[in-house]
Amino acid sequence: MAEKKYILLTHGGAGSKNEYQDGARRAADVGVESIKSGASVMDVVCRAVAVLEDDSRFNAGVGSHPRADGSVEMDAAVMDSSGHFGAVAAIPGVKNPIHVAHAVTRTEYKVLAGQGAAQFAKKAGFQPLAAGQVTARGVDFSTGESSTDTVGCVAFDGKNFAAGLSTGGIRGAIPGRVGDVPLIGCGLYAGPAGAVAATGNGETIAMHLTAIRAYQMIERGDAPEKVLEEVLHWFHPVDDAFGLILVNRDGYAGGCNRTMAWSVVWEEK
Ligand code: GLY
Repeated sequence: MAEKKYILLTHGGAGSKNEYQDGARRAADVGVESIKSGASVMDVVCRAVAVLEDDSRFNAGVGSHPRADGSVEMDAAVMDSSGHFGAVAAIPGVKNPIHVAHAVTRTEYKVLAGQGAAQFAKKAGFQPLAAGQVTARGVDFSTGESSTDTVGCVAFDGKNFAAGLSTGGIRGAIPGRVGDVPLIGCGLYAGPAGAVAATGNGETIAMHLTAIRAYQMIERGDAPEKVLEEVLHWFHPVDDAFGLILVNRDGYAGGCNRTMAWSVVWEEK
């Protein structure tokens, strides 16, 4: 396949309804506009993920699932192919954790957590999450239905790659629980060969070192569709909700063992 001018994929999380595809598409359109405006690829994925965080149908930002005590703590991360990485873990009180993760890339740190992350965000002037703004619509795993999970974006702007993720985590989890999202190489990875963003059961995604292993397959020349097919086999179809979007210079793939709203936009060179 020929190298593309750009490719951008978004997803609304493992378990998100196919009818919510319009939300994934809106985020992808914002991302593509950003590519066309000359924004950095890291800006591109952050802007796209922020659109998903602002859509209360998805489990991130204003739609974040509450913890067992009713509190809201979110994880977000962003990485680009020049090796910049930033993340926040169990951060309360911000509307767009992805923008805070982006700001972390400009510090001497890689991951900020909890109240320290919230203080960092406040000092930097990030918009707070207003009381009552969280309107989680996810469905508990215990009902047998899929819960929605992490939202994400991967992009190739013709030169560089980036991946971004954001989540409210598992509904009803104890406060302080952190999933795969802020763990480099687990929920996401980006390098000179491509970018990968996962969604689903964070504990299993982390234990498989999912994103770095998927990236290594891309790096050795496997087509994105082949990588997706292989990686899906690592996850139990009933116990482990799992989805993935990935991109290389000339192709992409997206899929999930649940329903998943996702979108792709690309242009030939
Ligand atoms: N994949 C998101 C989480 O488990 O927190």
